[in-house]
Amino acid sequence: MKKPKASKQLMDLLNKAIAREIQVAVQYMWQHVLWSGVKGFAVKDELKSIAIEEMKHAESIAERLNYMGGTPTTKPDPINVGSNLKEMIRQDQKDEEVAIALYRKIIAVARAEDDEVTNRLFRQILADEEDHHDVFSTLLEEI
Ligand SMILES: [Fe+2]
Ligand SMILES: [Fe+2]
Repeated sequence: MKKPKASKQLMDLLNKAIAREIQVAVQYMWQHVLWSGVKGFAVKDELKSIAIEEMKHAESIAERLNYMGGTPTTKPDPINVGSNLKEMIRQDQKDEEVAIALYRKIIAVARAEDDEVTNRLFRQILADEEDHHDVFSTLLEEI
């Protein structure tokens, strides 16, 4: 069976997505390791479980890109751990906003190319990112 022909634009967007998934996987994992204080105690488990989800996102997107004939990047976007809890969670909230905007765009491009699988994959991931954004926004109200 012939593989679907993805555009260079869509493959580049998937690599952009992988770079930022690796970024946040490491960022949240380090924040989980470096937590401090009473308030940090309340958020560390959340950071750990979200970091693991981001790693799974990176893997699923890389599998899809590989199937399309692209080469998944190993290079993360710049990692911003932050120096205190508030700075960390504010940065994470912003990174989730970047993800939401990028994945909406990927869904639109995948739809335009009749790529139902990429469309479905990113709809699922987008739902996770909205959930992460909600978690970080709620945490910011408390810390
Ligand atoms: Fe993600
Ligand atoms: Fe996320």
